[in-house]
Amino acid sequence: MGTEHFDDKAATWDDDPEKVRQAEDVARAVSAAVPLGQATRLLEYGAGTALVTQALIASAGGIGRVTLADNSAGMRAVLRDKIGSGAMPPDTRVWDLDLENQPAPSEPFDLIVSSMVMHHVRNLPVVLAAFAEMLAEGGHLCIADLDREDGSFHTHDFDGHHGFDRGELATALDQARLVDVTITDCTHITREGVTYPVFLATAREGAAATQDDH
Ligand SMILES: C[S@@+](CC[C@H](N)C(=O)[O-])C[C@H]1O[C@@H](n2cnc3c(N)ncnc32)[C@H](O)[C@@H]1O
Repeated sequence: MGTEHFDDKAATWDDDPEKVRQAEDVARAVSAAVPLGQATRLLEYGAGTALVTQALIASAGGIGRVTLADNSAGMRAVLRDKIGSGAMPPDTRVWDLDLENQPAPSEPFDLIVSSMVMHHVRNLPVVLAAFAEMLAEGGHLCIADLDREDGSFHTHDFDGHHGFDRGELATALDQARLVDVTITDCTHITREGVTYPVFLATAREGAAATQDDH
């Protein structure tokens, strides 16, 4: 799937109150699960219009430098508008990044968040390995996404995952050498009268734990 779908949706993405509610639910769950503070260097991957990051900043009362990555030019244009209008901190960076096809930037982050993105990623192990590489020592990864569904969620052209089995995702996170993997209920999305549950998976950079094992 190309980026056209999200390019077209970007300008009106925030007009949907359900998207705002879902993002706030995800941010609330992330805030409850991991430490957040003025020094937390945050990467939101597949940030879209950064609804989750905006809610995180509001709930944390401040955060370290924010980096927003998305491979959709339309989404990145909205992000730049938000920075320009003061809706996001002025030092926020916007990256054109697709970790399936580009190497992991060599910069450490204390927290990587991704909401409703991983089901669009075909090569999950490659992207999880890139996240593990970008996490600072002891840093945290938070992934919100759909539980396994019957394929009815996407009505547009779609070649990604029909949600995830929690056990299989936990195994994939282990295989990326992340530790302390936890997967809990987070929020839900209702479409055409069907409710799709959304989980939050959290994990921690594991180099220190791996070294201790040896
Ligand atoms: C369903 S939207 C979610 C947007 C936002 N995270 C939210 O919760 O409102 C998925 C986002 O992931 C982005 N995306 C999809 N595949 C990507 C990839 N391989 N690399 C970077 N971004 C990607 C899309 O452009 C889109 O902005």
